[in-house]
Amino acid sequence: MRAHPASAPAPAPSSGGPATEAIMLVGGKGTRLRPLTVHTPKPMVPAAGVPFLTHQLARARAAGVEHIVLATSYLAEVFEPYFGDGSALGLHLEYVTETDPLGTGGALRNVAHRLRSAPGDPVLVFNGDILTGLDIPALVATHRSSGADVSLHLTTVDDPRAFGLVPTDADGRVTAFLEKPQTPEEIVTDQINAGAYVFTRGVLDTIPAGRPVSVERETFPGLLADGAHLQGMVDATYWLDLGTPQAFVRGSADLVLGRAPSPAVPGRCGERLVLAGARVADDAKLFGGTCVAAGAVVASGAQVDGSAILAGAHIAEGAVVRDSLVGAGAHIGPRTVLDGVVVGDAAHIGADNELLPGARVWPAARIPASAIRFSPDAP
Ligand code: GDD
Ligand code: MG
Repeated sequence: MRAHPASAPAPAPSSGGPATEAIMLVGGKGTRLRPLTVHTPKPMVPAAGVPFLTHQLARARAAGVEHIVLATSYLAEVFEPYFGDGSALGLHLEYVTETDPLGTGGALRNVAHRLRSAPGDPVLVFNGDILTGLDIPALVATHRSSGADVSLHLTTVDDPRAFGLVPTDADGRVTAFLEKPQTPEEIVTDQINAGAYVFTRGVLDTIPAGRPVSVERETFPGLLADGAHLQGMVDATYWLDLGTPQAFVRGSADLVLGRAPSPAVPGRCGERLVLAGARVADDAKLFGGTCVAAGAVVASGAQVDGSAILAGAHIAEGAVVRDSLVGAGAHIGPRTVLDGVVVGDAAHIGADNELLPGARVWPAARIPASAIRFSPDAP
């Protein structure tokens, strides 16, 4: 994969061509991702060695987007110091902060005045927690050719209850929008809102200002009731909502393995990604898309599979870490086993412990070493 070019692109024509503006929704609290999101907003948690948002920004830039407005709220102050004006990514970034969260639709309306697009131009909108191989230009092309007011990227999932259900007719036109369906009767399709839209700019300006609005619960159903044209584009590309720790760890590993495409992975895709300044013992085993960040240490005999080891973390001799995330500066003791676990920043887990799927160790927590040496064969 090629590094992202930093030079500014030529201006796009006003009709046809790529959409050059986007809004990124990054104001959510990331509650389901705690403890990773206690001090860090979800889009800033590192995935494959860089804050997750970097991957989305780089993919948008590669699709011809030049200007992105970040709609921030929770822990808003950390975005700008890291991404600045966006020039390192070849982008022009702006930040708009909601003092009180305005919801997904309210956030869009709140930043609309920063857009330069004309009323008929397409503007991209992205949920800030989606890892996907979406063909962004294809979504824009669908929007232009269908003449829709809003076009939505759709994907299919086995269990749609945690998402917005979006049934479409034979032409791909959206017939209903059911956010987080509760009853079996509501589950009329396995197609869900994949969290990327193209809005005709003028439609954004019709969202009510100054109060919370849910784009999923209010704007989309309201547009449909008013006879607006909402177009769906279903595909089978890679798609993952990184809303839970398990999904976040999976997404990071898939970026490292190259299953999820991103121009922002800081190295070549493969079984492992070891960033400059990390120290890994010769006989330690790293595989399954494991990423070891700068200043982290993986000691002799340790095995790390499909996991993200954040900056300055320490994995001691003989530890086994599988499908887990180990926070910045955390310490995993000798022979300790982690399987499907999230360890908060600066937590300390002593020797010979075993933590099983779903365990969450909060930042700076301490779990003492066991007096009994761990053996996988012990009764
Ligand atoms: N600025 C701002 N203000 N952003 C917000 C706010 C807010 O008040 N609330 C949520 N966001 C951002 C989140 O940071 C996230 O990037 C995005 O909006 C979606 O919010 P989530 O909290 O992640 O929603 P979800 O995952 O339950 O559901 C959404 O995504 C699904 C796909 O993953 C919906 O859009 C569903 O319809 C969709 O299927
Ligand atoms: Mg989400």
